[in-house]
Amino acid sequence: MASITRLNQITRLTRPLLQDACRPVTSAPSPQWQQIRWSSHAPTSVALATRGQKPVTIQTLQKMYTENKPITMLTAHNFPSALMAQEAGMDMILVGDSLAMVSLGLNDTSEVTLDEMIMSARAVHRAANRSFTVGDLPMGSYEISPEQALTSAIRMIKEGRMQSVKLEGGAEMAPAIKKITTAGIPLCAHIGLTPQRQHALGGFRVQGNTLDKAMSLFRDAKAVEEAGAFAVVLECVPPDIAEEVTKALKIPTIGIGAGNKTSGQVLVQIDMLGVRPPDSFMPKFVKQFGSIWDTGLAAIKQYKDEVSDRSYPSASHVYKSDAKVTEAFKQAIQSSEAPASQPVEALKA
Ligand code: KIV
Repeated sequence: MASITRLNQITRLTRPLLQDACRPVTSAPSPQWQQIRWSSHAPTSVALATRGQKPVTIQTLQKMYTENKPITMLTAHNFPSALMAQEAGMDMILVGDSLAMVSLGLNDTSEVTLDEMIMSARAVHRAANRSFTVGDLPMGSYEISPEQALTSAIRMIKEGRMQSVKLEGGAEMAPAIKKITTAGIPLCAHIGLTPQRQHALGGFRVQGNTLDKAMSLFRDAKAVEEAGAFAVVLECVPPDIAEEVTKALKIPTIGIGAGNKTSGQVLVQIDMLGVRPPDSFMPKFVKQFGSIWDTGLAAIKQYKDEVSDRSYPSASHVYKSDAKVTEAFKQAIQSSEAPASQPVEALKA
């Protein structure tokens, strides 16, 4: 009993100190960023992250297209990557099924499920309140029938909180596209190299590079436009063919590996940031705009070194202590009747 009283005394002494130490540091918040949660693991509030800019809508994209202003799109697969994409001013954020490879470590996109895509989309949605969001429908979630496609698209909107969906395929997907868009869900089509069909295409190959293939690409582009797509991704297409397709359409083309004459561009964030070992394979069209791998690796190595030599955490990373409390605490535990190894149950008895 005596030891419990002593423990209670210690708790009474240390509680105010701990409360003080854990209180948030209220360094003046920047006018655009307002921290509203105080765990180091909690996301920064994005309430004000639009920086006074209006959210991008289908109309904004249409206006950019008619004014011939390039539309910027980047993938994001989680909260911080979406926050960064939006902060950099991306018009559109795509939760692509490249999630399978770049975030889940799978070999290709065929394994990723609609549930996994939705989880990723929900995280992106929490960050993206300005950029226009697009959620990819993964393989198997839309090919069976237009009804299946609409059911999956509705899940992506209702559960994934995306503003639009994307699916792969051209003329053959027109009925599904029509079903989705007439239900009021904006849809971005994806033609040319369609990674979900890599085995049918014989691998990741340039598309539209013969007259027949270019004509088929053209028909696909026209069919998805006619079916109601608001934009179409053109992947791995020679630039002059992509340019002609772009000129023939009344909706924006978003190129990836399709030259700079499309209405916009999209890249996979992990690729363009260089978040992978330097000897990794990278498609020809990817430009690495940064090297997060090098920066991250150096930082983690330094962390390891500083933990190993005890230089981290240093005085600036610890909470202040009260010498009197520490002294009282030392004395209390030294004179405690309960040996340190005694189980908690025994203390309660
Ligand atoms: O899944 C994805 O990231 C994509 C882009 C490459 C367009 O579809």
